[in-house]
Amino acid sequence: MTSVSSNSPNRIHLGVNIDHAATIRQQRKTIYPDLAEIVAASERGGADGITLHLREDRRHIQDADVYSLKRIIKTKMNLEMAATEEMLRIACQVKPEDVCLVPEKREELTTEGGLDVVAQKTRLTEMCSEMNGVGICISMFIEPAIDQIEASAETGAGVVELHTGKYAELAGAEQNQELERLYDAASFAHSLGLVVNAGHGLEYENVVAVKDLPHLHELNIGHSIIARALLVGVESAVNEMKQILE
Ligand code: PXP
Repeated sequence: MTSVSSNSPNRIHLGVNIDHAATIRQQRKTIYPDLAEIVAASERGGADGITLHLREDRRHIQDADVYSLKRIIKTKMNLEMAATEEMLRIACQVKPEDVCLVPEKREELTTEGGLDVVAQKTRLTEMCSEMNGVGICISMFIEPAIDQIEASAETGAGVVELHTGKYAELAGAEQNQELERLYDAASFAHSLGLVVNAGHGLEYENVVAVKDLPHLHELNIGHSIIARALLVGVESAVNEMKQILE
């Protein structure tokens, strides 16, 4: 199992997901915005890593982005991808520091639900072994459910990213219940020796409760930061989120 590197284990790391900058570019097939500039501004703003999702339909990030950004990212690359042979081949060529395995449906607007690790444990274990073999640290993007956490630990993934999408969509008592599920899941994952990340649907207000998840290592946040960047610029938008996490 490849270990997660961290200089200061007590602070929450921020992975900035830049997919939506690529969405703007792909909508008109322009050469702007330049993702290299978005990465540089994110890192100036305090990003601890850059997250990008190479979807099977290539709706935002393109193959060439993955290869070129690997050369210019100064922090670390977290490549989100479906558990397919095609993506496995790309990951083993590019060798991002981290890979996050996610479920993917072509018609979805964004990643809906977590990966069913229980149902695909054998295949995912083989994929983890191949990627661990080239030094990639793997995380499973899962619902905060005990069986999925146990199965993730058994695949050889060192990390789970807990899906906060439901928490983000709910309100009131239901949201509190989902938050409790996330808290319990984080504690349980840590007890199995897994590193705990979380993400999806987080913004500048709802992140406040999530940042207190026990043993939280990293949050991956995209849409709200890119939206805020329209008003204040990428560097400030990232920095504002960093201030909240600190
Ligand atoms: N983490 C994972 C695994 C994701 O798939 C996404 C969305 O691409 C995110 C985090 C970021 O979600 P959002 O854009 O809602 O902040």
